[in-house]
Amino acid sequence: MNKHHDRIKKWKLATEKGMQRFPERKETFTTSSELTVDRLYGLEDERYPMEKLGLPGEYPFTRGIQPTMYRARYWTMRQYAGFGSAEETNKRFRYLLEQGQTGLSVAFDLPTQIGYDSDHVMAKGEVGKVGVAIDSLEDMEALLRGIPLDQVSTSMTINAPAAVLLAMYIVVAQKQGVASHLISGTIQNDILKEYIARGTYIFPPQPSMRLITDIFAYCKEHVPKWNTISISGYHIREAGANALQELAFTIANGMAYVEAALAVGLEIDDFAPRLAFFFNAHNQFFEEVAKFRAARRIWAKLMKEKYKAQNPKSWQLRFHTQTGGSTLTAQQPDNNIVRVTLQALSAVMGGTQSLHTNSRDEALALPTEDSARIALRTQQIIAHESGVADTVDPLAGSFYVEQLTDEMEQGVANYLDKIEALGGAVAAVEQGYMQREIHHTSYETQKAIERGEEVIVGMNSFKMENEPQPELLRVDPSLGEKQKEKLAALRNTRDQNRVSAQLEALQRGAQGTDNLMPLIIACVESYCTIGEICGVLRQEFGEFTGV
Ligand code: 3HC
Repeated sequence: MNKHHDRIKKWKLATEKGMQRFPERKETFTTSSELTVDRLYGLEDERYPMEKLGLPGEYPFTRGIQPTMYRARYWTMRQYAGFGSAEETNKRFRYLLEQGQTGLSVAFDLPTQIGYDSDHVMAKGEVGKVGVAIDSLEDMEALLRGIPLDQVSTSMTINAPAAVLLAMYIVVAQKQGVASHLISGTIQNDILKEYIARGTYIFPPQPSMRLITDIFAYCKEHVPKWNTISISGYHIREAGANALQELAFTIANGMAYVEAALAVGLEIDDFAPRLAFFFNAHNQFFEEVAKFRAARRIWAKLMKEKYKAQNPKSWQLRFHTQTGGSTLTAQQPDNNIVRVTLQALSAVMGGTQSLHTNSRDEALALPTEDSARIALRTQQIIAHESGVADTVDPLAGSFYVEQLTDEMEQGVANYLDKIEALGGAVAAVEQGYMQREIHHTSYETQKAIERGEEVIVGMNSFKMENEPQPELLRVDPSLGEKQKEKLAALRNTRDQNRVSAQLEALQRGAQGTDNLMPLIIACVESYCTIGEICGVLRQEFGEFTGV
């Protein structure tokens, strides 16, 4: 009789109970040869390493955070999208939802991401270019028009001005008649990786951490289904880190956010259940699977043992994955469909909760509708045709995958010791430690590619002459002028006295220590622009000029 018999029996009972909310997709799962597919394999084997692996849906979650995983609910198919005007992006959102995607993900243009209005001199040439232009609540209403915010969860890739975009989302929902406690979604809100890798920061670390913990506290009370941060490894990897560094630096940043929240008096179980993560998936299939499995185990142990969280939801590492943008080649772009398929498969085999698949043309431009559809179909084929979603954590027990998972866990521990010795992630960032590690790896990788030691099919091997050029998406270059006209009209029609009063109240709030979210919401309701709101915060907090 299996020595873990009692624990397995208890787990099976808990699983059956959990299925009341999410019953499994089928009564029985079978292969094409009518062989039954069990929910989980290995439990009857005396060698099952119960302490290390646990069971899916149980601490330390190596095998997944849900007992039934995709047998009950597929991962969210959540394509990152946004370009041009709010109206154009709303059209793409509706198209993707019609094509079967199950979550929204907003890409904002750079002026929005660094808190400038479209008519600011710093916005010239960037309005609507890498994402959608959002200047005020008016644009946000257009962006979300016709999308039921009590039914669709939305991720917003916004960091320094995250509080402003969250406020706009809350107010648009209210205008739809959806109370804030009913909306679900995520704001990225991860400023440390912006300092390390991505660069869309505005304020120095301390005021940035204040805004982040204000959001934690506000959402705990008013937006309980909202994931308040998406602690991101994606951009760290895109900046040149390897898989181990991606995981280690992301976990270190996560610890810094936890400690910042504890330092302002928040209770660990009040905010930890709504911390989320965001990882990359590059080309080394098994290493990526091991990275995801190790991530869950590392975070679970940190939350339970180091931070003494009691709520099992605090121990769960829930994450979104985006396939590796920097692995896409401009050469032979159709090859990218194959790369993305393998990368997406590693995320699924690694237990992701949400997934974005890159489009074949994204090394050249933002995706066309055709390319975005193929990217979504890639997920749908993996989900509905491959069978990999029919059993939980199918690679468990593989000698290779389990050893890689262990080695990832150990490698992260070594990095965390180094970062701890530097004074933690914020100090390490201020000293440029993570940045140097990433730059070194990036340089070595690039040299290997240029020497042909690292083969990139179609780019440094199997090349073609005179390749046919694909049709690419073009963003309307006159959009900047149109946004300026919309802004001028808004400023003429809104209640300017109310705008001034709300901005002054925000200024006073920023000088104090109260939670800024209510004041930012009041500014947004008065149609203050993102540039005006961030302008007040720039005055009070100053701007970070980089390491
Ligand atoms: N059994 C029981 N319950 C289940 C289940 C199962 N098998 N599967 C799911 N569920 C439940 C979950 O518990 C959850 O319920 P809850 O809200 O009450 O906890 C509900 O079903 C929804 O499931 P998930 O929370 O797992 O899925 P979501 O998609 O809602 O959330 C997330 C996933 C990772 C937690 C969330 O943070 C998320 O959606 N993140 C997305 C981030 C993102 O899209 N980022 C894009 C950034 S783009 C970028 O930065 C790159 C650019 O710069 C280039």
